[in-house]
Amino acid sequence: QNDIYTAGVHRRRPRVPTDFAELERRAKRAMSARAWAYIGGGAGEGRTMAANRQALDRWAIVPRILRDVSERNLEVELFGRRIPAPVLFAPVGAGSLAAPQADRLIGHAAAELGVPYIFSNQASVPMEAVAAEMDGVTAGAPRWFQLYWSTDDDLVDSLLARAESISADAVVVTLDTTMLGWRPQDLNLGSLPFARGEGIAQYTSDRRFVDIVAERLRAATAERPEISVGAIATLISITRNAPGRFLANLTSAQPRAAVQTFLDIYSRPSLSWDDLAGLRARTSLPIVLKGVLHPDDARRAVDAGVDGIIVSNHGGRQIDGAISTIDALEEIAPAVDGRIKVLIDSGVYTGADVFKALALGADAACIGRPHMYGLALAGADGARDAVADIIAELDLTLGLAGHTDVTELDRDALRRV
Ligand code: FNR
Repeated sequence: QNDIYTAGVHRRRPRVPTDFAELERRAKRAMSARAWAYIGGGAGEGRTMAANRQALDRWAIVPRILRDVSERNLEVELFGRRIPAPVLFAPVGAGSLAAPQADRLIGHAAAELGVPYIFSNQASVPMEAVAAEMDGVTAGAPRWFQLYWSTDDDLVDSLLARAESISADAVVVTLDTTMLGWRPQDLNLGSLPFARGEGIAQYTSDRRFVDIVAERLRAATAERPEISVGAIATLISITRNAPGRFLANLTSAQPRAAVQTFLDIYSRPSLSWDDLAGLRARTSLPIVLKGVLHPDDARRAVDAGVDGIIVSNHGGRQIDGAISTIDALEEIAPAVDGRIKVLIDSGVYTGADVFKALALGADAACIGRPHMYGLALAGADGARDAVADIIAELDLTLGLAGHTDVTELDRDALRRV
């Protein structure tokens, strides 16, 4: 934070706005309508997005005085690795809507800060390339991999093997997106975020996925040798009863067979707790379940032997009128009782927000839209600064509230208002 005030002395403006409201306003202006609809948008009438922010406002920080806050610690340990601040870059798919090579730029930003970047399964750059970019900044810079559990078991295994081979520190299994939510901003524009191939690079770079596409094309051409590839993809979509409402938006110019196959197999709505036991046996990586909102599910996750959970409502993008993550955390943290790591995201946009989440029992917070807005405004530097600002404000808030260690915060630091 010193740097930012020193810049002010020299009348240098920061690269990206230092408050979320202005960051969002400027990013909206910088983005295409399609990018803004997908990234800035939420489910339904936006109630969950609003609830995430309102819940934070119902907690007030109660500062303590005269406690020597000259030295402060922001470091935390996650799965055997120390990270410099309790903050991660959340997985964000189809990022190339905001900037070409989005994931590579964000990886660069995260590596510069030394905090983990959770690679999206719906990335626009293959995980190997992002890992290489991060290694170019700092060898072994922390990276996690986020998995959407495909209907194809071999594809799941292939993605897990790739995550292991790029030395991911954990696999995050996102469980709140077995189907895409009702997102009016995208629907009203007739825009399917993946339609032009955005966000399918983990798939098209995967040998198993390419095999699946090829198999499908072969099967289709065997039946009707005279039809074109585009027509085959349409045929598959009809026979597979895929999300038809979105399919109408696919343009003819892009690799339809790959996009269509992706839509058909990227997630498995039939997933249940029974499947989870199988996953444990299939990877040596720590497993983190993302999208936990009910305390009973949190307890069940502990019983299932996973290593962590992320209390998340997907940034308010899945269910309209869902519980805010701060309200959910209030019940989940005592239910977990320190047995596994508890992370949180959705609406956590400032250092004070992170402070409140930690005081309510979270071990760390993932930041979604702020880093995407920074990216849209100023590329890798913008993504880095947006998150660096949150960390700087956290450091100040910690000290000003009379605390010296993020790992020692508890509910006594807050009052409900
Ligand atoms: C997401 N999120 C997400 N989560 C995930 O597990 N895999 C993904 O591919 C995506 N894709 C994605 C795209 C966009 C544009 C957004 C905004 C979000 C959810 C993300 O990881 C995180 O849960 C939320 O972004 C957190 O909320 P905030 O910080 O954006 O409010």
